[in-house]
Amino acid sequence: MNAPASHSMPSAAASPLDMRGRPLRDLRLSVIEACNFRCPYCMPADRVPDDYGFDSATRLSFDEIETLVRGFAQLGMHKLRLTGGEPLLRKNLPTLIQRLARIPGLDDIALTTNGSLLAAQARALREAGLGRITVSLDAVDPARYRDMTGGRGEIGHVLAGLEAARAAGFESIKINCVVERGINDDQVLPLVSHFRGTGHVVRFIEFMDVGTCNEWSRDRVVPSAELRDRIAARWPLRALEANYRGEVASRYAFEDGQGEVGFVSSVSAPFCGDCHRARVSADGRLYTCLFAGEGHDLRPALAGGVDALRERVSSVWTRRRDRYSEMRDAAGASRKHVEMFLIGG
Ligand SMILES: C[S@@+](CC[C@H](N)C(=O)[O-])C[C@H]1O[C@@H](n2cnc3c(N)ncnc32)[C@H](O)[C@@H]1O
Ligand code: SF4
Repeated sequence: MNAPASHSMPSAAASPLDMRGRPLRDLRLSVIEACNFRCPYCMPADRVPDDYGFDSATRLSFDEIETLVRGFAQLGMHKLRLTGGEPLLRKNLPTLIQRLARIPGLDDIALTTNGSLLAAQARALREAGLGRITVSLDAVDPARYRDMTGGRGEIGHVLAGLEAARAAGFESIKINCVVERGINDDQVLPLVSHFRGTGHVVRFIEFMDVGTCNEWSRDRVVPSAELRDRIAARWPLRALEANYRGEVASRYAFEDGQGEVGFVSSVSAPFCGDCHRARVSADGRLYTCLFAGEGHDLRPALAGGVDALRERVSSVWTRRRDRYSEMRDAAGASRKHVEMFLIGG
């Protein structure tokens, strides 16, 4: 999706660099804190009440989100991903997307969803200007899938959502699977087998120590190299070049031409040096790292309009030094992390 020709594009020179020389290229924006699932690695049901996040008192309005995205775009952000909680629970999301799609400088709007509500919304999302969809799916076996969603998900709904998305014209649909040893690592080969040759790209994500409530331990992380070897033993693989600098997934093609598979290895091979990503929670807090403890409240600046917002973000970004993933094991690394469901992955 391209900006209309009548808008002037923000210059790349306007983009601030952080203390490690990294520009701001990418924004992950949560549009809602609530979720209809309770995946144990993200929002365990015994820690997060069912009605969590449905109170919209502090949630940014569509006007505020549009101001925010305009400000970020003027700083050089050109890739936007909407997330949550579950973003498809946000009412009138296609209307928001339509407004964002007109913002100059934005050349990619994507969505990460659990897919449960996608079948009914795929066409409206596409028509509004959404460019790409990522669907999270941690198992193909229906009972295992249900367990992975905290007893809330029906795999049939997600598969119907994928079909509807394809029919609506989404071409490069990614399927994200978080792998936990002893929990769902037996689902890796079935997932590959199910999606090979369909055009969808499955990406396996190492279980991360985000948040405070998922009882993360290193023993439950399956390093990507191990998964890659398991898959390659069955379907030989060939490494592919990254699509662009800073791409977080390493990509492999099936030698037999049946598509590709990806791995996101933020535990075994951290990629902080190339991290150009900011995250904003649904209540307007800016996090400069997935593992940050504290966010920066953007709401006062937002009230002052695009210029004030841009200045505030720039002042935070130019002071950014984070590289938590690379320091995970170092003494003194922060142990207080924002919850994943607040910043959306
Ligand atoms: C927080 S969810 C929000 C969007 C939507 N509800 C979904 O599940 O796609 C975004 C992504 O974060 C991933 N995620 C959540 N907790 C994680 C963890 N501890 N380690 C790795 N990925 C995680 C999810 O699997 C999902 O793909
Ligand atoms: S991973 Fe997504 S679907 Fe699962 S609990 Fe977290 S926000 Fe909800």
